[in-house]
Amino acid sequence: MALYNDTVMDHFMNPRNVGEIENPDGSGTYGSPVCGDMMMITIKVEDEVIVDAKFKTFGCGSAIASSSMATTMIIGKTIDEALAITNKQIIDELGGLPPVKVHCSVLADHAIKCAIYDYAQKNGKTYAGLEGFDPNADEDDHDIPEEE
Ligand code: FES
Repeated sequence: MALYNDTVMDHFMNPRNVGEIENPDGSGTYGSPVCGDMMMITIKVEDEVIVDAKFKTFGCGSAIASSSMATTMIIGKTIDEALAITNKQIIDELGGLPPVKVHCSVLADHAIKCAIYDYAQKNGKTYAGLEGFDPNADEDDHDIPEEE
């Protein structure tokens, strides 16, 4: 039986929004404390709306699929809406990930928040969705299942 569904495979084989935005308004890099994989997300913001997002992922297929899906989810959204997106929503949009791969979606979720955090820092802005967010924290309040 296939471990990954068609949507996950599609976003892994044909990832959307790969690359790096030149002169981004926000840039975030995050390394997973679970596996050490890395993801960088760059965003372009106009009038509080994320008009473009790109990612580079040095990680597994699930991380690539998660970041591809996550960028498509945040483009066109306001910063507040993008901050409200959880890794569970990314998994839902992907139609599910195997339990041991849940942390890969956290990587995408966290990298987005890092990019928005960078944007907020550069522009002297604060967002409710970033309250208590530490871009360098190894742990966050996401539900990361125990792994062998
Ligand atoms: Fe590292 Fe998926 S195993 S992000």
